[in-house]
Amino acid sequence: MALSERITQIQPSPTLQTDSKAKALRKAGVDVINFAAGEPDFDTPAHIKDAAIEAIREGFTKYTPVTGIEDLKEAVREKFARDSGLHFCHEEIIVSCGAKHSLYLLDQVLLNPGDEVLIPSPCWVSYPDQVLLHGGRPVLIPTEERDGFLLHPETLRAALTPRSKMLILNSPCNPTGAAYPRERWEELAAVALERGLWIVSDEIYEKLTYDGFRPVSVASLGPEARARTITVNGLSKAYAMTGWRIGYAAGSKEVVSAMGIAQSQSTSNPTSIAQKAAVAALRGSQACVEAMVEEFDRRRRYIIDRLNRMEGVTCRVPQGAFYAFPRVDPYFGRGRKGRAIRGSVDLADYLLEESHVALVAGAPFGDDRYLRLSYATSMEEITKGLDRMEAALHRLR
Ligand SMILES: Cc1ncc(COP(=O)(O)O)c(C=O)c1O
Repeated sequence: MALSERITQIQPSPTLQTDSKAKALRKAGVDVINFAAGEPDFDTPAHIKDAAIEAIREGFTKYTPVTGIEDLKEAVREKFARDSGLHFCHEEIIVSCGAKHSLYLLDQVLLNPGDEVLIPSPCWVSYPDQVLLHGGRPVLIPTEERDGFLLHPETLRAALTPRSKMLILNSPCNPTGAAYPRERWEELAAVALERGLWIVSDEIYEKLTYDGFRPVSVASLGPEARARTITVNGLSKAYAMTGWRIGYAAGSKEVVSAMGIAQSQSTSNPTSIAQKAAVAALRGSQACVEAMVEEFDRRRRYIIDRLNRMEGVTCRVPQGAFYAFPRVDPYFGRGRKGRAIRGSVDLADYLLEESHVALVAGAPFGDDRYLRLSYATSMEEITKGLDRMEAALHRLR
């Protein structure tokens, strides 16, 4: 069979793969602690589920307008105005099958073969592969822990070429948890706008910030930023709605309309009943989000503290999202029972097999010195998992 060149260039999502491996082991009766999943362990709040049940009962089960029902676009419009002071009309908004799908559509409509997409690294695993899938060239720009994993404007400038087309920003960031302050956004946007880049701002973890950090939406920096930024967001993380598959993008009418065409020829509308649930999530009380953030924060403090107490492990305090990103390279070169730990993938494999702790290697995110642990799992599991991890690391000589 001759598969396309495009598909042979990319890998299945390593985070989803590790998560499924962990879930399969658990199903087989193995007591696995799963730090791999990028999804809240909380149930979708009841009022959101009720809205979907009501939609089914009412027979709201047919095709909807391709880019989303008016009610949901209105709820998204209100959300941008409320949270970021941004004013969009319905033609500037598209609802898709998850933020991942919105990002995919953006590559579809903006990239020509060879176009370069600048991505601060470490980054979410799907950005580079989605770019490759569209014939673009991902240009990973390293960021360092000592700089808080924030992209520096001069490093961005140095990575620019005549083929640079798009800059993907993600704050709070998966996997580092880094969150960008307004001043850094302004500096980065200035470089990007000077060169006429499209800015894609993935704000999916916007609601999950800690220590009083207040996120700033890139498009809200001013009219120029508003014109060249496509903001991507979704319901998955903030409302524990990963399975419902609702995300959205807002920005330039021309780009959003083109995304609508691509969507009309691929998925058609996102699921009708999930759209109704999304309206309830965005318009309903936000107390459920606050309660989840409070619990994530409690876990964050515990997990970071525990990791930093482990010999040979250091972990920066993340300001957002629900991931810890500890540095573990002091363990490289060690081993156990003839098994050598050469990098983060070996270490993640070792921890899964030796102690049944599933976490994701740093390598697929762009930095082999790290591991990623999601703390979107209960305190009890976190405690048990960290105990096991510590003991397994201790056994490496
Ligand atoms: C940075 C980032 N963007 C987008 C997504 C995709 O979210 P959705 O479930 O809305 O497709 C994820 C999910 O892990 C993510 O971590």
